[in-house]
Amino acid sequence: MQARLTALAVVIVVALGWGASADVTPKRTTPAAKAMYDQYCAACHGPEGRGDGASAAGLPIKPWNLTDGRLMNRLPDEFLVLTIERGGPAVGLSPLMPGFKQYFSSAQVAEVVAYVRSLAEPPYDPSAALPGPIYPPDAPAQPILFGHLIHAGAYQIDCQYCHTEARRAEFAGLPSVEKCMGCHKIIGAEGNPEIKKLHGYWERKEPIPWVWIYKVPEFVSFPHNAHVRAEVACQTCHGRIESMMAIPAVRGPNLANDALNLVGLPVAPPRLSMGWCVECHREQNRTRGMNAPLDCTACHH
Ligand code: HEC
Ligand code: HEC
Ligand code: HEC
Ligand code: HEC
Ligand code: HEC
Ligand code: HEC
Repeated sequence: MQARLTALAVVIVVALGWGASADVTPKRTTPAAKAMYDQYCAACHGPEGRGDGASAAGLPIKPWNLTDGRLMNRLPDEFLVLTIERGGPAVGLSPLMPGFKQYFSSAQVAEVVAYVRSLAEPPYDPSAALPGPIYPPDAPAQPILFGHLIHAGAYQIDCQYCHTEARRAEFAGLPSVEKCMGCHKIIGAEGNPEIKKLHGYWERKEPIPWVWIYKVPEFVSFPHNAHVRAEVACQTCHGRIESMMAIPAVRGPNLANDALNLVGLPVAPPRLSMGWCVECHREQNRTRGMNAPLDCTACHH
């Protein structure tokens, strides 16, 4: 346990890279936005946003420190809007973070978001925020609302900390319940129903029945290790996973491609199709002097 907590601290410290920046971007916000913050948010998040409001002391989960730019600045506006309008459960966080849709118009929510952004240190830079959409269409529901955006995006936990086999084996692998519990025996142990579900699997000694999303047919073999060693980034094939709350199924031919093909425009083959694999292999061999196979038996055996 002790060793695991130390490991966690190291992961987080390394991921966040402690260190101050001397940027002095002027802070923009409106008095109206500050008034809304003071009325509705300060009791929990504190007068300056440090998560130390008078009501925070009694909560099992502490309100986020909104001034911590290392965490906050990577989150897209869409995430903040959703959390403020519909409350923590909309993004797998605690219902102790209430929704404010009934109190604020959309314009007011946008103002509050701008105010929250103005508290961040180092200062918020829109170009460094992750892109949306955070809930892409066609993402199947998972047994626990686990957000890559929170783990790999805000906290910047390394992909291979959880998908440990990617470098060594054919399958990247999913983290065990035990690995999740290495952090969540403590983090969110009380007050978050999604994390409570995780504790349930742990206590029943059951694996979490995650829905498998990226899958090639049985007659194809796809080795992660060769690709990771050849330094093809996870995102090249899977997209900006760290900006998502749910991962969409992307596969097979699609209507938009078919239409473009009909009018004679060259389009990239859809992900996970044979054309996609072969085209990248050709390109990598041409541009990076790689040795990616083009013979049938390399992928079919
Ligand atoms: C009753 C206490 C309470 C009030 C009032 C409250 N919050 Fe929170 N808020 C929380 C808690 C607790 C969390 C942490 C939830 C978690 O970690 O699961 C949180 C989390 C958040 C987050 C973190 C998620 C993210 O997007 O970074 C944001 C932003 C946030 N609150 C903004 C606000 C704003 C803006 C207001 C006022 C409109 C507000 N909160 C009012 C308790 C509160
Ligand atoms: C290295 C530490 C670490 C590991 C490993 C980890 N988490 Fe988290 N997790 C966090 C932190 C930090 C938060 C943010 C807590 C908060 O703000 O209340 C979080 C938040 C969550 C949340 C609520 C927000 C969301 O929607 O993601 C869920 C659910 C969750 N984790 C599930 C899991 C599961 C399931 C696993 C294993 C697959 C896991 N976590 C592994 C650190 C970790
Ligand atoms: C804290 C642990 C954790 C971290 C860090 C993490 N993942 Fe995951 N990943 C999971 C879990 C749990 C699932 C299964 C639930 C889901 O699909 O959201 C998953 C699912 C996936 C899937 C879909 C697997 C399938 O079923 O096809 C991909 C792709 C993926 N992760 C890539 C990444 C990438 C890329 C990164 C780094 C940017 C990353 N992951 C970081 C835990 C993690
Ligand atoms: C060259 C493209 C490519 C790269 C790079 C890649 N993946 Fe994958 N990934 C795939 C394909 C294709 C599948 C489906 C494999 C199958 O069905 O056997 C997949 C499946 C997965 C799965 C679910 C099945 C499994 O293997 O456990 C996870 C999780 C995953 N990838 C994570 C990652 C992570 C993390 C990285 C980076 C370290 C990464 N992938 C890099 C193409 C890629
Ligand atoms: C984004 C580019 C890219 C995509 C997409 C891609 N590959 Fe690769 N593939 C590579 C590179 C780079 C190598 C490594 C070549 C080297 O080591 O010289 C490789 C190597 C391989 C190897 C050889 C492994 C070995 O042990 O030598 C196989 C098999 C393979 N890929 C199968 C696939 C399959 C199946 C798909 C589609 C599902 C796919 N690849 C998609 C870039 C890609
Ligand atoms: C770089 C990897 C790769 C190579 C090389 C490759 N294939 Fe494939 N092949 C795939 C993948 C991935 C699929 C699955 C596509 C899908 O599900 O849409 C596939 C599917 C197929 C199918 C099924 C087609 C269908 O529509 O279901 C056949 C037949 C096939 N390949 C034959 C071949 C032959 C013959 C060669 C050699 C000339 C070859 N493949 C070379 C990756 C490869």
